[in-house]
Amino acid sequence: RPRVVDSVAALRAQIRNWRRDGLSVAMVPTMGALHDGHISLVEIALAKADRCVVSIFVNPTQFAPSEDLDKYPRQLARDLDRLAEAGVQLVFTPDVAEMYPAGFATRISVGGPAAGLESDFRPTFFDGVATVVAKLFLQASPDCAVFGEKDYQQLCVVRQLCRDLDLPVEIVGAPTVRDAHGLAMSSRNAYLSEAELEVARQLNVILRRTAAALAAGSDEGSATAEASRTLVEAGFDRVDYVAARESLTLAPWRPNRDGRLLAAAWLGKTRLIDNVEVPST
Ligand code: PAJ
Repeated sequence: RPRVVDSVAALRAQIRNWRRDGLSVAMVPTMGALHDGHISLVEIALAKADRCVVSIFVNPTQFAPSEDLDKYPRQLARDLDRLAEAGVQLVFTPDVAEMYPAGFATRISVGGPAAGLESDFRPTFFDGVATVVAKLFLQASPDCAVFGEKDYQQLCVVRQLCRDLDLPVEIVGAPTVRDAHGLAMSSRNAYLSEAELEVARQLNVILRRTAAALAAGSDEGSATAEASRTLVEAGFDRVDYVAARESLTLAPWRPNRDGRLLAAAWLGKTRLIDNVEVPST
């Protein structure tokens, strides 16, 4: 089983020992409720470095008051079993007081790729993510860290954060792990009923179809509007956005360039996000 530490001091001591032995360290930040998507990040981490540290912390600063912080799935024992099986050496499970002691008063706000998309609907989300990720990197000082393309805008924001603050951590992007129907794995899929799952599986289908249309020269405005309509017809209750962006900067996409088609949509009380590549032609 992996060693589990819940204090920054114990985390630092363990990593200092590894460093003394000349070992490299990869980090995989998570909020737990681990699924095959998370485990794929761990596998990449272990292929890149000698040791892997996984953090499990449901970060309150990235949830708005109206969001699902209280009911976010928590299942530490099961998570530790999965991480043991995957060969992880160290798990960091701080509580809220360890990460945000009384008097905590700093917030990191990333611009650039953080603007728009998720930020239009979750305006404080990336501040929360950037702040906790910066803290985790300063606490663990990993050589590299693995993030999923599932949260594509988050991956771009973390890259920007490291570049701007000279955090010496190599950010590795990992492909989205999907179920047999193409639905991107997510801890929040646990909220879905069977009927909602059927609808949820249409999200990637519609995105792939729309990305193909864009690659074939369809007008972006009409293609994304059509995708939103089709999502609602398929049973989604509301679409926050469907938008094409430049892959690296998330600036507006231009035809014949490498792009990413990103979407967020609501199914009952559950908000799902997904994204696919728009191949350049
Ligand atoms: P969480 O949602 O637990 O995700 C942790 C990591 O797993 C993220 O890098 C995410 O992109 C990746 N991931 C989730 N589902 C995936 C899938 N189906 N395929 C591949 N990777 C997947 O993202 C967060 O936590 C938090 O915002 C965090 C970065 C930990 C900061 O609190």
